[in-house]
Amino acid sequence: MQFGYFDDSNREYVISQPDTPLPWINYLGAEDYFGLISNTGGGYSFYQDARLRRLTRYRYNNVPTDMGGRYLYLRDNADGQYWSPTWMPTQNQLEDYSCRHGMGYTKIGSTFNGIRADLRYFVPPGETLEIWDVTIKNLTDEDRQLSAFSSVEFCLWDANDDATNFQRNLNIGELEVQDSVIYHKTEYRERRNHFAYFACSEPLAGFETQREAFLVPYRGYQNPQAVLRDVTNKSLTVGWSPVGVHHLRFSLAPGETRRVIFLLGYFENPADQKFSPPGSQKINKAGVEPIIEKYLNPQAVDQAFEHLKQYWQANLNVLQVVTPDQHVNRVVNIWNAYQCMVTFNLSRSASYFESGIGRGMGFRDSNQDLLGFVQMVPERARQRILDLATTQLESGGAYHQYQPLTNRGNDAVGGNFNDDPAWLVLGTAAYLKETADWGILDEAVPFDNKPGSEASLFEHLERSIQYTLDNIGPHGLPLIGRADWNDCLNLNTFSEKPGESFQTTTSRDGKVAESVVVAALFIMAANEMQAISNHLGMGDKAAFYKNAAEKMAGVTRKHGWDGDWFLRAYDHFGDVIGSQECEDGKIFIEPQGLCAMAGIGLKEGMVEKALEAVQTHLATTHGIVLLDPPYHDYHLHLGEISSYPPGYKENGSVFCHTNPWIMIAESIVGDGDRAMDYYLRINPSNREAISDVHRCEPYVYAQTIAGKAADRFGEAKNSWLTGTAAWNFVAITQWILGVRPDYDGLRIEPVVSKNWKGFKVRRQFRGTLYEIEVVREGTGNNISLFVNGKKIEGTLVEAVGASQVSVKVVIA
Ligand code: BGC
Ligand code: NOJ
Repeated sequence: MQFGYFDDSNREYVISQPDTPLPWINYLGAEDYFGLISNTGGGYSFYQDARLRRLTRYRYNNVPTDMGGRYLYLRDNADGQYWSPTWMPTQNQLEDYSCRHGMGYTKIGSTFNGIRADLRYFVPPGETLEIWDVTIKNLTDEDRQLSAFSSVEFCLWDANDDATNFQRNLNIGELEVQDSVIYHKTEYRERRNHFAYFACSEPLAGFETQREAFLVPYRGYQNPQAVLRDVTNKSLTVGWSPVGVHHLRFSLAPGETRRVIFLLGYFENPADQKFSPPGSQKINKAGVEPIIEKYLNPQAVDQAFEHLKQYWQANLNVLQVVTPDQHVNRVVNIWNAYQCMVTFNLSRSASYFESGIGRGMGFRDSNQDLLGFVQMVPERARQRILDLATTQLESGGAYHQYQPLTNRGNDAVGGNFNDDPAWLVLGTAAYLKETADWGILDEAVPFDNKPGSEASLFEHLERSIQYTLDNIGPHGLPLIGRADWNDCLNLNTFSEKPGESFQTTTSRDGKVAESVVVAALFIMAANEMQAISNHLGMGDKAAFYKNAAEKMAGVTRKHGWDGDWFLRAYDHFGDVIGSQECEDGKIFIEPQGLCAMAGIGLKEGMVEKALEAVQTHLATTHGIVLLDPPYHDYHLHLGEISSYPPGYKENGSVFCHTNPWIMIAESIVGDGDRAMDYYLRINPSNREAISDVHRCEPYVYAQTIAGKAADRFGEAKNSWLTGTAAWNFVAITQWILGVRPDYDGLRIEPVVSKNWKGFKVRRQFRGTLYEIEVVREGTGNNISLFVNGKKIEGTLVEAVGASQVSVKVVIA
């Protein structure tokens, strides 16, 4: 069952009924100002940091769900009926409802009693404000007398404090209103130089700024008394809950249209120019007024929307494909790239499953997000790498998370997640392969933000490798620390107290438990360091990394192999995890994919064997589960993993992040049919038809799909912010379609389904447009390349700086 459809030519998903199984959301903004917006107008906004600079409130875990957002109420003043054209919060029966989620914008429209209303929400590129562009049309042949009310609820900036510290917060709210602009300035009188504003293009019949005055006690957003009665009292709140409500009254002749623009924005004044007149407590509005004036003008709004479209056109144009499969085309060309931008921007901070106050930017997460993002805006990827490296510790370890507003490592979470360092190397390698900007390696970057500790980025990468070499366990495999990629395999955490964090309550000395996953990541990273050192002419270092990688591969073949697949780990007692010997958790997905990518046991046939085991034990119709059998009871010595019921999250769901590792592994062993089959099982568009089962948005990947052991098998959760976005993008574009940036050029090695007769890829790479046409002439994976008509040896198309290059690829 579907709740909408894809409109590919407009790059939109069109939702045709408001009561989707879960709120289906989109993101506004791509730089500093962000908003989450659901298909019924729910959501919230923030500046840079969803925890520390929250503009509007959102109540997670609310009932009914998704109550609170960017609301508009319309009221028919002839009979007093009122409704919300976005359906929520009033839930009236609407005609012709649709929500179009597009690239950085959302349009919601509907008709009620002959009044058509269309709302377009977006953030103009380069600005720290969002526009609500509203068009209201009278479709009847009578004059209509209407009122309209806008509504937002301000957050007092720090979203965590806002949701917990009521004894203070109910006393500090402050606002100003001037003409049609409501200014939210809580704490502006003291140390904040920023304020929010909510402006309207029309003269007002009234306004409210106090929530209680708008709703009145014991009523909610579904039935505010001000709207019911068409009465506002120009409340000016001090304390309690500041809101922004504009009240408009207007008439519409038959066929007449009215366009109203609302702006919700963020602005910072210089510390010494906060007040005007100086010495007063009033906001100095000289800086913000021209911006407000500009965007209250419909022409400027239309122009800004055009810019937004061009911005996305440019981002997506970097890579466009035409293949025989519409799910590949749609997801690669539009939605997966788009999701990669969102994960790059927000890491795991703010979605409808991540509250914005729990986690900032993840070290391993952001490095992986780069893999799918770097081709779009390489300059921003560069800055991110430097920011991440700044939170690295001198030991080569890293803070596991940091706050984007401060760029400081998060002390509460700390470090010792022993896979983290390798990801910095892998993220930087992806950047170098995309850009050939070798200069980044010379950038001076501090450790742990400490001035005076600066070292080159190259040295940071060296320390990443050294960190693993300094933390080797009894079998010669890397120690796991607090966790490796799998945050829930906490082998040094024996916590018997309810509620203690599995990741930070470290109760064992950590000198025994080892990780095959870190071993594989280490080899991948050491291989990149070998290539980078070679490129820099440092043969000794290259030899060192080569040797380190080979040694680790040998140890893994010996101590990381269970006979039919790769082991997962050794626990604190030196016992195996992910082995035939185990009662539950006999086989894990991560080492099967990552060891293949690291090339461990490739020659020896281990990889092919491991992939057979994946097919036999882990593959399901809804994707490949993380482990099997799931843990049926709680194992103190494994940490969080067995805290989940069987089939959920890390305990045996389809943890989508890991599936592309298997797709890549299948490409490495040359099985294009299997790689594509696995790809399609979790491709969101390919799951659209079962939206009633899947339940999350059909246009983006979710982190997890309940596994075969779960009674809700096939149900997705945690959509949007997941490493699944970047890794699927890498798997399909670089390995299956096989167009893969490499240090010296573009490597082209497709491994596609035998049924595919061919496909095309347009790829912008280092200033050159590559027009790649692939044709299949046989059933194997033998590749011949013709560059501008001439056959070349091998599969690397060297970057030559031409403006356009045509590549013909023959697969035989
Ligand atoms: C979740 C993991 C997540 C971890 C880190 C756990 O509770 O299950 O998916 O990676 O927390 O915060
Ligand atoms: C989500 C976390 O953000 C990520 O860092 C981790 O690798 C996966 N969960 C698996 O636990």
